[in-house]
Amino acid sequence: MSVPSKPLRHFLSLLDLSSEEAHALLQRAIALKQDWRAGRCYEPLRGRTLAMIFEKASTRTRVSFEVGMTQFGGHALFLSSRDTQLGRGESIEDSARVLSRMVDGVMIRTFAHETVERFAAHSQVPVINGLTDRFHPCQLLADMQTFLEHRGSIRGKTVAWVGDGNNMCHSYINASRLFDFQLRIATPETFEPDAEILEAAGDRCQLFRNPEAAVQGADLVVTDVWASMGQEGEQNQRAQVFAPYQVNEKLLAKADAQALFMHCLPAHRGEEVSAAVIDGPQSVVWDEAENRLHAQKALLEFLLV
Ligand code: CP
Ligand code: NVA
Repeated sequence: MSVPSKPLRHFLSLLDLSSEEAHALLQRAIALKQDWRAGRCYEPLRGRTLAMIFEKASTRTRVSFEVGMTQFGGHALFLSSRDTQLGRGESIEDSARVLSRMVDGVMIRTFAHETVERFAAHSQVPVINGLTDRFHPCQLLADMQTFLEHRGSIRGKTVAWVGDGNNMCHSYINASRLFDFQLRIATPETFEPDAEILEAAGDRCQLFRNPEAAVQGADLVVTDVWASMGQEGEQNQRAQVFAPYQVNEKLLAKADAQALFMHCLPAHRGEEVSAAVIDGPQSVVWDEAENRLHAQKALLEFLLV
């Protein structure tokens, strides 16, 4: 049985970190990235295991956690709900009790946010949210690291979120609280983010209907798919509603001339973003994707070492 060397912490939402911890974590991610690139070997998780439960598809999240554990000298265990007893109805609570007696941390990607909360409540080891329908906090660590690397502190800057008020949007709202930036959110009617999450951020976040107004003078423009995992059946209807919200060159031209473009990926060129923008000079999506690895190594070190 694993004996935690420090008080048990989970990472289910960005708000599980204090602002100070979040800033320190980004600095650590940058340092770990430099160390890795310089060829310095650092294996603080030798002999330790991260279980990764996936109830939804993933490329970046799976690979970045698995590679991060390998680089740290540990092991990552891929568990698809299809092939485990979870898929045959074993309860979340029992799965949490059993797994956490054998592994040192658990990452979960699932549908209902309540699932990761229930798992964490019965786990003896740290639980990391690898995306739920409500939040995608690991992605925000990478996004914030990427902005910091390219433009310095995001404090006081203006970020425009264009598109669906989804899990990524919710995590941007929480990030605005931790990192103290203004967030303008442009969504079609009925696709606004959750009112409670929004209200808790106070006057840092503003809702817009018009994407051009939201993007005006922004330092960072962000979008995401119009139909998230689990919403595939709404794809056609959403494509019509969201068409005026495409981030293209005309829209990005309204932002600050130095504005960056981010997208958590996977992207649909010609839908939420034009090829000219995602493949253009203001896009930092490949750094953003790579930083999943470095930011999550910093997170693993923070939670497990
Ligand atoms: N951005 C992100 O989480 O990508 P995956 O779905 O490929 O993990
Ligand atoms: N909002 C998207 C993010 C994918 C990384 C989804 O939940 O499918």
